[in-house]
Amino acid sequence: MKDIGKLIGKVRMEKVLVLDQTDSTNNLLKKMAAEGAPLGQVVIADEQTGGRGRLGRNFFSPKGKGIYLSYLMKPEVAPSDAVSLTAWTASAMAKAVEAACGTAPGIKWVNDLYMNGKKICGILTEMIINDPADGIDSIIIGIGINVNNEPSDFPEDISGIASSIAIETGRQVSRSELAACMIRELDRMTEDWPGNKAEYLSTYRTLNITCGREVNVISGGKARPASVLQINDDFSLKVKYSDGEIGDLSSGEISLKLI
Ligand code: BTN
Repeated sequence: MKDIGKLIGKVRMEKVLVLDQTDSTNNLLKKMAAEGAPLGQVVIADEQTGGRGRLGRNFFSPKGKGIYLSYLMKPEVAPSDAVSLTAWTASAMAKAVEAACGTAPGIKWVNDLYMNGKKICGILTEMIINDPADGIDSIIIGIGINVNNEPSDFPEDISGIASSIAIETGRQVSRSELAACMIRELDRMTEDWPGNKAEYLSTYRTLNITCGREVNVISGGKARPASVLQINDDFSLKVKYSDGEIGDLSSGEISLKLI
């Protein structure tokens, strides 16, 4: 990871903090944002001791195997308008993975990246609002990618659902190169958002692995069976529940049923 500087240049590196270890890059960047860190500030760690996932889950973050990266945005929009950033990030990270390793991953709504039916990347977007009257203070986008893990690296409880780029492509990937591609794509996304939606939506629809699938919509601890009809223009998901009701999901969680 120490080579990132050579790949993205000295000037960009001024806003990139590379650490051997931290509890969670999202936690650290949140503190840095409160102390005035600038737009585009990045924190990358070689290992997280308390990596966090969505819905209060842990994110497995072993040393030297993956990329654990957080990125700071400060969009001047209403919180409801920032929701789509999560899906935009999935498109941007899919492009970064393809650029660095030559294989495009699939996107599972709303923002997980998959290869061959297994999860290789998760994204946790956190919005900081100190005073609702002032709108959003900052958005921390946290991305965890399993890069060079071997099958035996994964604990038993996730070994059936998680994998790494190396396992699925059969090739080791330079983590510095992938991290550099991620930073480039996140910088580009920050410039493109929200005007250049068509490109991100098109990538999202092309790479999605969710449409046409039978899923469970997870809400309030309950799972409701549905089939996925389409990705709407605002990145929400149109589903048809098993009782015939049609719904649009703009956030939340679905689980894919095995085929
Ligand atoms: C998920 O799959 O539920 C989201 C996982 C997000 C993990 C990343 S790793 C970098 C950043 N720091 C964290 O603690 N979490 C995110």
